[in-house]
Amino acid sequence: MPQLGTSGLDVSTLCLGTNVFGWTADEAASHDVLDAYVGGGGNFFDTADVYSAWVPGNDGGDSEAIIGSWLARNAARRDDLVVATKVSQLAPNKGLGRDAILAGAEASLARLQTDRIDLYWAHYDDPETDLEETLSAFGELIDAGKVRAIGASNYSAARLAEALALSDRKGLPKYVALQPHYNLVDRDDYEATLAPVVAEHDIAVVPYYGLAMGFLTGKYRPGGDAVDSPRAGSAAKYLERPDAVAALEAAEAIANTRGVSIATVALAWLAAQPHVASPIASARTVDQLADLLPVNALSLTDTELAQLSSATADAA
Ligand SMILES: NC(=O)c1ccc[n+]([C@@H]2O[C@H](COP(=O)([O-])OP(=O)(O)OC[C@H]3O[C@@H](n4cnc5c(N)ncnc54)[C@H](OP(=O)(O)O)[C@@H]3O)[C@@H](O)[C@H]2O)c1
Repeated sequence: MPQLGTSGLDVSTLCLGTNVFGWTADEAASHDVLDAYVGGGGNFFDTADVYSAWVPGNDGGDSEAIIGSWLARNAARRDDLVVATKVSQLAPNKGLGRDAILAGAEASLARLQTDRIDLYWAHYDDPETDLEETLSAFGELIDAGKVRAIGASNYSAARLAEALALSDRKGLPKYVALQPHYNLVDRDDYEATLAPVVAEHDIAVVPYYGLAMGFLTGKYRPGGDAVDSPRAGSAAKYLERPDAVAALEAAEAIANTRGVSIATVALAWLAAQPHVASPIASARTVDQLADLLPVNALSLTDTELAQLSSATADAA
C-alpha cells in the first residue's frame, strides 16, 4: 500500500469519494458501496462536514453520518481504515478560525461515531484568519489525539507555500497532503502552480474529481445519448474540448488492450503522476465501483502514460 507522504498512514491507491452519500446514494446504497470498497482492498474514505448540504432537505453532515453508521457496524476494521474529513464550509463552523476548527472536529467525530479523524482537511483556505491560528488549532486536536494528520484543499500555491514555511519556522503542525482539482483532462492549474510547491516540500497529493465528474468513464460521448445524472451538465462540457475527447479515446484504446475500464485507466494515469498518493473518485453503486477498484492493481507502462499525457499536454 502506498504511504500518504510523511504521515505514516498507509492508504489504498483508490480513495473513495463520498459526496454522493446522502445525495445520489441513500444510506443502504452507500453502505453497499462501502462494503464493496473495503472488500476490494480499499481503506481510505474522503468526506466533509458539508456533504451533502446542497441537497434539498439535507443539513450537511449527511455523508459523515452515513459513514458513521457503517463504522459503528464495522468497529473491528477501524484501525485498518484512514478516515478523512474536512472543515470550513458548514455553518456554524465556517472558516478556519480556532473555534470553528475545534467545534467542527467535535461535530464530525460525533457523526462519524469514531474517536479520531485520521486526516483532517482544511476544505478551503480562509484568508481572513491567520495561518498561525489555523495551524495551532489543528495542533490542539493532534495533541488531544483527535486528529492524526492534516491536509490542505483548494489552497493557492502561494498560500500553501506560506503555510508550509510557517510550520517549519514556528514548529507548528504541517500539512502533509494537498487535495487539488486535478485529473487527466484538468491539468493546467495544478501542474503549473501547485506541483512545484508539492515537489519542494514532498507533499502527498490526493486529487479530487479523478473522473472529471464522470466524463472519464466514457459515458459522455460526442453525439451520444443524454446521461441521467445531476452532474451531467458539467461533465458533458468536456465534450466541447477536442483535447479532452482525444484523452478519452486514448484511455479507451488502452482500456481495451488491458481489459479494464476507461475509468480505471484514467485513475491509473493520475496515480502515476509525481507525488500523487491516491486519486479520489466516487461511485454511487457497487457496479460503478467495480469499474474503479482495479486501479489498486494497474500499473501503466511509460508508453501508455505518454500516450495519455500527450492528448492533454497542450492544455496543461
Ligand atoms: N476538496 C474539494 O473541494 C472537493 C470537491 C469535489 C469533490 N471532492 C471529493 O472528490 C470526490 C469525487 O468527486 P466527484 O464524485 O464529484 O467526481 P468524480 O469522482 O470525478 O466522478 C464520480 C462520478 O462519476 C460517475 N461514475 C463513477 N463511476 C462510474 C462508472 N463506473 N460508470 C459510470 N459513471 C460512473 C458517478 O456519477 P453519476 O452516476 O451521477 O454520473 C460518480 O458519482 C467527492 O466524493 C469528494 O470526496 C472534493
